[in-house]
Amino acid sequence: MTAQRIDGKAIAQSIRTQLKDKVTARKEAGQRVPGLAVILVGADPASQVYVGSKRRACEEVGFLSRSYDLDTTTSEAELLAIIDQCNEDPAIDGILVQLPLPEHIEESKVIERIRPDKDVDGFHPYNVGRLAQRIPVLRSCTPMGIMTLIKTTGIDTYGLDAVIVGASNIVGRPMSLELLLAGCTTTTCHRFTRNLEQKVRQADLLVVAVGKPGFIPGEWIKPGAIVIDVGINRLEDGSLAGDVQFDSASENASFITPVPGGVGPMTIASLLENTLYAAEQYHD
Ligand code: GUN
Repeated sequence: MTAQRIDGKAIAQSIRTQLKDKVTARKEAGQRVPGLAVILVGADPASQVYVGSKRRACEEVGFLSRSYDLDTTTSEAELLAIIDQCNEDPAIDGILVQLPLPEHIEESKVIERIRPDKDVDGFHPYNVGRLAQRIPVLRSCTPMGIMTLIKTTGIDTYGLDAVIVGASNIVGRPMSLELLLAGCTTTTCHRFTRNLEQKVRQADLLVVAVGKPGFIPGEWIKPGAIVIDVGINRLEDGSLAGDVQFDSASENASFITPVPGGVGPMTIASLLENTLYAAEQYHD
């Protein structure tokens, strides 16, 4: 079997086109455009690239984009004050603080300071708790984008054995909750997992988010499985590689996401969808 590629770039572009039309319709109806504040602390090169893409995407669909580029030495109190300001600003529907933060800033304190109705990253315990209780509102962007990708395959997820490799707050944990909500039997693997190969080999649906190039050999993929590769790893030659060995995995999988052009663009599309959702559901 040769797997069909899931074209995240094209799917994300079609979502962005739909969002642009909705913004135009809002303007024609005399409504304000949704607003997103993107806050970057420090000069991590990967974060700078991601934040730049998010801001550009925001402007492309016609949202208001407000940028905060803060020095690495910015104190926690200063960052919290900017969040308070955005929380109170009626032009801002969503607030995104790019992670990771410098070590002197407590991540959970920052996430919990963002008002849950403006938490378009879906990281606030309120929003994660809503998802855990099967009443999702604002959902974490990467897992949400992956669910959109899986839907495009037309495969019914109910009863599938889903294996998630990686248990981070940003991807693995909310991904498990999304797949549980979609009727899968979920197994979440992490650094203490024993016999990872045996678990991966049983997956009808595999999501890998560990940040290690080629971590999962293609031979481990169950014939016909859906493979979602969240890894974006920069190799020494400058090229990008996923966490799954793409060529050999493609021989076994039914559907697979490429890197780049798979999950990455969907994270941004979901962020924009969440910002419009926050405007319509909470702030109009
Ligand atoms: N760092 C890596 N991924 C993300 C994300 O989706 N949102 C934020 N805020 N930071 C990140």
